[in-house]
Amino acid sequence: MKVLVVGSGGREHAICWALKKSPRVTELYCAPGNGGISEIAECVDVKATDLDGMVAWAKDNAMDFVMVAPDDPLAMGMVDAMEAAGIRAFGPRANAAIVEGSKAFSKELMKKYGIPTAAYEIFTDKDAALRYVETQGAPIVVKCDGLALGKGVVVAQTVEEAKEAVLNMMENKAFGEAGAKVVIEECMTGPEVTVLAFTDGKTIVPMPSSQDHKRAFDGDQGPNTGGMGAISPCPNYTSEHARICMETIFQPTVDALNREGRTFRGVIYFGMMLTPKGPRVVEYNARFGDPECQAVLSLLDTDLLEILEACVDGTLDRVDVRFRDAASCCLVLASGGYPVVYEKGKEITGLDQVTDAVVFHAGTKKDDDRYLTNGGRVLGVTAVAPTLREAVDKAYEAAKPVSFEKMHYRKDIGFHILDAI
Ligand code: AMP
Ligand code: GLY
Repeated sequence: MKVLVVGSGGREHAICWALKKSPRVTELYCAPGNGGISEIAECVDVKATDLDGMVAWAKDNAMDFVMVAPDDPLAMGMVDAMEAAGIRAFGPRANAAIVEGSKAFSKELMKKYGIPTAAYEIFTDKDAALRYVETQGAPIVVKCDGLALGKGVVVAQTVEEAKEAVLNMMENKAFGEAGAKVVIEECMTGPEVTVLAFTDGKTIVPMPSSQDHKRAFDGDQGPNTGGMGAISPCPNYTSEHARICMETIFQPTVDALNREGRTFRGVIYFGMMLTPKGPRVVEYNARFGDPECQAVLSLLDTDLLEILEACVDGTLDRVDVRFRDAASCCLVLASGGYPVVYEKGKEITGLDQVTDAVVFHAGTKKDDDRYLTNGGRVLGVTAVAPTLREAVDKAYEAAKPVSFEKMHYRKDIGFHILDAI
C-alpha cells in the first residue's frame, strides 16, 4: 500500500517509524516531513495545512491511505477533503475534530452527557468574565476558546492574575480570535495523566497511559512548551482508574459524539486529572499528543496500519491491539531559548553514537549528510525498558553523545512521578 503521513514533527517520525514496520506498507511518504523522516519515508514538499495541495498530491500519486496527524489540518477538514476525493484517510472529520478546536464545545458536550470535568462558565463579554472571576475567587483557570498552540491557558493563583488573563485574551486579543470567547473554570488538583485511544466511532481502545512535561525548565518551571518529554505508562494511573475512565469518560465521549452526529474516528487524546473525587477531563485533543506519541508507539506490538485501517473501516473490535508490558521515556532535546526565541541551522553531532534508543526527529533538516536544527523541539530520544526507572536512565544515557549549539533539555523527565512511587 502507498501511505502518506501528514505532518513534520517527532510525532510524525514515530508514526512513520511504526508504519515502516508494517509488511503491507510498500511505499511511505510524509508531507512535509523532516530530516529524520527523510531516512525512512519520501518527504513531499506540501505544507500540512495546504488542503487542496495535499489532496491533489495524494490523488495524483495514487495514495491508498492517508494518516493526518496534526491538529490544524484536522480542524480545517483535511480528512473530509480526502474522503470527498475518494481517498481513505485516518483522523476525525472537522465536525468531530472540534473537540480540540473549541474548548467551549467540549465543555458543553461533557456537561450535557455527564462526563466528569471541572465546573465552568463560558463568556463572550469581558465585563461579565471579570465579574465572574471576582465572585469565584482564586485559584481559578482562564482559557481561550480556540487553538492557541497550548498557550491559551492560565492557571491563576490570584484574582488579579485571572483578571489580567481575561483582559489579555479578550481586550488585548493576545491570541487573536481564539480569545473572543473564554472558558473560566474551577481549578482542579491531582496528578495529570494522558490516555490516547484509538476509536472507530463505536469501539474505543485505550493505549497505555502517558505523561507529558509541558514546562520548559526543571521542576515544572518556565513557560509552557509543546512538550519537553514524556513517559509511558504513568505509574499512578492504576487498572482501577482505567476501569473508571472507560466507564465514565472514554466510552461516554465516543457515544456522546455519535449522538451529536459527530462520529469520531481517529485517535482521541484524553488529558485528565486524577482528582480526589476521581478522574476528570482537563482537555480533549483530536490526535496523538507530541511527545506522548513517541513514548506510547514505542510500546506498540501490533501492526499500526492494521489498527488505523480498522478505525477508518469501523472494524476496530476485530483487531487485537497489543502493547509491550514495558515502560518508555521520550526525552526532548530543544533549541536554547525555545519556546520563545531560538536559532536554527545548528549542526547536530553524535547521532551515530546513540545506542539502545530511537531518536525521533522533530525540528531537523538534512544538509547533504549532516543534520541541522530546524525548529524549537529538535529531537526526541526514546528508550524502552522493563521499568520506568530504567527507561528514564536509558534515555538520558542515550542522549549523552548528541549535541548542537545551545542545546537544552530537562534533566528531570519522569523524576517527579518516580519520586512519588
Ligand atoms: P489545557 O490546554 O486545557 O490542557 O490546559 C493546559 C494545562 O493547564 C493543563 O495541562 C493543566 O496543567 C492546567 N489546567 C487546565 N485546566 C485546569 C483546571 N481546571 N484545573 C487545574 N489545572 C488546569
Ligand atoms: N503534548 C501535548 C500535546 O500534544 O497536545
